[in-house]
Amino acid sequence: MSDPKKLFIKTYGCQMNVYDSERMAEALGGSGYVATDRADDADMILLNTCHIREKAAEKVYSELGRFKGLKDANPDLKIGVAGCVAQAEGEEIMRRQPMVDLVVGPQSYHRLPAMEARTRAGEKALDTDFPEEDKFDHLALRPKASRGPTAFLTVQEGCDKFCAFCVVPYTRGAELSRPAERVLAEARDLVARGVREITLLGQNVNAYHGAGPDGGDWSLAQLIWALNDIDGLARIRFTTSHPNDMTDDLIAAHGECDKLMPYLHLPVQSGSDRILKRMNRSHTAESYLRLIERIRAARPDILISGDFIVGFPEETEADFQATMDLVEEVRYGQCYSFRYSPRPGTPAAERATVDAELASERLQRLQALLTRQQTEIQDAMVGREVRVLFEKPGRLPGQMVGKSEYLHAVHVRDSDVRPGDLRRVRIIESNPNSLAGTTLD
Ligand code: SAH
Ligand code: SF4
Ligand code: F3S
Repeated sequence: MSDPKKLFIKTYGCQMNVYDSERMAEALGGSGYVATDRADDADMILLNTCHIREKAAEKVYSELGRFKGLKDANPDLKIGVAGCVAQAEGEEIMRRQPMVDLVVGPQSYHRLPAMEARTRAGEKALDTDFPEEDKFDHLALRPKASRGPTAFLTVQEGCDKFCAFCVVPYTRGAELSRPAERVLAEARDLVARGVREITLLGQNVNAYHGAGPDGGDWSLAQLIWALNDIDGLARIRFTTSHPNDMTDDLIAAHGECDKLMPYLHLPVQSGSDRILKRMNRSHTAESYLRLIERIRAARPDILISGDFIVGFPEETEADFQATMDLVEEVRYGQCYSFRYSPRPGTPAAERATVDAELASERLQRLQALLTRQQTEIQDAMVGREVRVLFEKPGRLPGQMVGKSEYLHAVHVRDSDVRPGDLRRVRIIESNPNSLAGTTLD
């Protein structure tokens, strides 16, 4: 038998890309590849890319530039581009970087092994179709290898919302939910291999409406309740949600479903109704605030996180102030905030932009407020008892790190703790980006 070929995958962007990279590695495992974490050692380099902001997309070209030397030294090296830049730019990538052998869009990953074979035959391979079939049904099943305690599981892809700034509906296509049975089978398999926490993924995960075993469509809440019955699974999370798809049954699940963790990522983008309208978000600041109230009524200790875009076209100081006011009212435990980046092909890209310096200055003010809230909420954990799912050893000897229910990183010094253990922990200290605690059982 010939030596296995080596595959180096670099993943950018969201968690859905992380999941897709795992699936692509498995699919190429069937073509004789094993993973390597060194690009200079690889027979194939695959960049799984993100197109959400200009910086993310440009990174891909600079990274490709860096691989030129490797390709010169080893003409058998194959270089592929997958993900949302592949979908958005297609052939253009090969024009800008002729050394690229393969370009594959997110909906065509099941065709990757055949495409790889074509590159070995000296051809270029490009596929950015939106095929009828569900890629996950055709991707190789996960091998039976054991896994760490946490895993992602994509249940829904694509988006029909068309926010004016966003490329996702174009790069990932129309919304598509996987059948509930398939998701449950994959979850059971993950649990059998050591996974204790599953994060359900979707660009709009709470819009999930997959075919249920009883014939009708299941909501995300129904799927979560079915996952709740899997023995050995300890925790369920999901991301990312849209405010308009927070249905009553999902809100209720946060109060009633014991394995569903008290953490919700619910991006609002702006606190100004004028801007929200121009963003085509179809919710208002007020409706978002009332929604948060209802979620907190169901689960008072829930930690809310969100996303913000600052400097969207026509954003005035008053609009920005409305965002700051909304943040003050919500109190976020975790947040991602970005300066608006015009994306080719989206409606907002045609509009006049806010002065870059002004937008940066607003972003700094917003981030200062969000960091303050985050720190206050984290500091308030000191003295409290949480449950931590331990994942791996920490940086210091004898240290183990895991996550609390609220997704805070927690580390302890306890030589008896193993990855996969779920333990009661008393929080004793709050540090930047993590908590320290002592185990109680
Ligand atoms: N489906 C999720 C968001 C997916 S994109 C939702 O609806 O909330 C992740 C985040 O990137 C978005 O929430 C938004 O804050 C940010 N983003 C998307 N397009 C952007 C753009 N053109 N410029 C800056 N930030 C953007
Ligand atoms: Fe993009 Fe999210 Fe809006 Fe869909 S709902 S267009 S993914 S920001
Ligand atoms: Fe980026 Fe595509 Fe995810 S654009 S954020 S990788 S869906």
